[in-house]
Amino acid sequence: MDILKTISQMQKWSKTKKKESKTICFVPTMGYLHQGHISLMEKGKSLCDELVISIFVNPAQFGPNEDLDTYPSNIENDLLLAKKAGVTAVFLPNKDIIYPENFQTEIKLQELPQFLCGKFRPVFFSGVTTVVTKLFNIVMPDIAVFGQKDYQQLQIIRQLVMDLNFDIKIVAGDIIREQDGLAMSSRNAYLSISQRASALCLSKSLHMARDMVDQGEKNPEVIKLKMETFIGTFAETNIEYINFCDPETLEDINVIESETLLAIVVRVGETRLIDNTLL
Ligand code: PAF
Repeated sequence: MDILKTISQMQKWSKTKKKESKTICFVPTMGYLHQGHISLMEKGKSLCDELVISIFVNPAQFGPNEDLDTYPSNIENDLLLAKKAGVTAVFLPNKDIIYPENFQTEIKLQELPQFLCGKFRPVFFSGVTTVVTKLFNIVMPDIAVFGQKDYQQLQIIRQLVMDLNFDIKIVAGDIIREQDGLAMSSRNAYLSISQRASALCLSKSLHMARDMVDQGEKNPEVIKLKMETFIGTFAETNIEYINFCDPETLEDINVIESETLLAIVVRVGETRLIDNTLL
């Protein structure tokens, strides 16, 4: 497994592979890898000859009061896991390589970032689309895999690729859950034992909503109220949003009559957890 720290090293590596007619799959990450990332890598591995991941905690996608400084990191373990998952190259740049002095460009979508998480994290998606655009130009993959847990991010990347004519196929990876249902996330590491128990309110309330829809409930407000009451019974929880929307445009829906995205964000203590399901 090659570890490449500069843009020219990474681009040279990809160009060499392309000359050898090898296809490249890319999984961008912020490190602190868990089974969710590994499943994206396994998916990538099955689709291409070469598998590249990046590990870069992107400062541009963190707001001033967010967890950039405390974001968990364990590069040594990440490299072990990556190697085991069959990664052939890791792009591991530092902040100055990605954002050199006098960096000026911002890539920002007009509409999709205005919904869901974008309402609460105003700089998040422009930070993501700016860094992903750079990473696409540096890694030059044929395919890139993004997890469905960050559903809005996935939709935004699909739109970005379409709008900017990247010749890259975007593939979605399933949400990977702990045995008890908690969606895997690097941020789960922040949870205390009691908060870890409270964090189950997300997957359980989504399950409850699915059951209600299966039993014929079509009114998002009725389901939302039940979910709010249920989540309120878990200690240290604070709902940021529960949203029923169109899975493509992310616009709110008033009646559940076709495929609907139910997306949820709950703070457990200080930790912001996200989850979703398609109804
Ligand atoms: O999903 C993430 O981990 C990040 O948002 C990404 C796509 C690696 C960009 O920094």
